[in-house]
Amino acid sequence: MPEDTPDPGHPGTLLVKQIRSESPHVVTLTLVDPAGRTLPPWEAGAHLDLVLPSGTIRQYSLCGDDQDRTSYTIAVQHEPAGRGGSHEVHTVPLVGKELTVRGPRNHFSLARSEQHFLIAGGIGITPILAMARALERAGQSWQLLYCGHRHNMPFVDALQDIDPERVTVVETDQRGRPAVRDLISRLPAGTAVYCCGPASLISDVKAASEATGNGLVVRVERFAADPESFPVRTDGDRPVEVELARTGTTITVPADRTILEAVREVRPDVPFSCEEGYCGSCETRVLGGTPDHRDEVLGTNEQGRDRTMMICVSRATSERLLLDL
Ligand code: FES
Repeated sequence: MPEDTPDPGHPGTLLVKQIRSESPHVVTLTLVDPAGRTLPPWEAGAHLDLVLPSGTIRQYSLCGDDQDRTSYTIAVQHEPAGRGGSHEVHTVPLVGKELTVRGPRNHFSLARSEQHFLIAGGIGITPILAMARALERAGQSWQLLYCGHRHNMPFVDALQDIDPERVTVVETDQRGRPAVRDLISRLPAGTAVYCCGPASLISDVKAASEATGNGLVVRVERFAADPESFPVRTDGDRPVEVELARTGTTITVPADRTILEAVREVRPDVPFSCEEGYCGSCETRVLGGTPDHRDEVLGTNEQGRDRTMMICVSRATSERLLLDL
């Protein structure tokens, strides 16, 4: 295996030291090593996979200070109509409990650019907050647009503390969503544009950035599948042989099943969450064969390198895959 093959993240255990209310629907969790050890480093845009007491796995962006190696901070918005992870965080007493985590992993990293334009919708502010902090510390040029509902916009004070001149807060329930297309059309060529928020905001940002023809670098992070690309097209799919290198098993994945579904029959411990290709928790190292990437997590360059794949949606263009499982 190449030494620089990215590690999707070994499991570890972290202690929930504190839970704090940040807005009516958002709490932050402070996580520390149970033995007080220094935590692995991370960069702005990274997230953790958190295994909740029920066994549910959810992904949360790190929103604290990336220079602080004594704790990680994540923020969780209560979504009563969601899939249950946030409800568990908001209702089960977690302080003092140890939780299994994977990561930090980063598919939403800062790009090399002279200018950075950060756009957050609602709880999408969490990775964006860490990015603003990192850019300010590095002396980079950045602007931030934060859209949300007036009574549920955490971290406004933290953003103002970084640099109020660079931050625009728009309460969309009072003023409507700003004209993203106009804002993006005025960005200098080559600006790096980052967006985390609802699918509709991400679609607008991507379309507006492409429309400029100005070489903007666009990076997005989703917390729901892109309705334009999910469900993925499966017509024409063929069976694929998948060899699990650590398990020493070869399985045949029929055309009408996902690799994740077939793998779980022999490796029920394999992590997964969304099963729609956007969360990254099923990311698996590829040791042989050629994946057919269908996920929303890996960027084009990462997909081209074929070092990892999301086995919940992706398949193979080769007849056989060798996975690090
Ligand atoms: S389970 Fe979410 S990307 Fe595969």
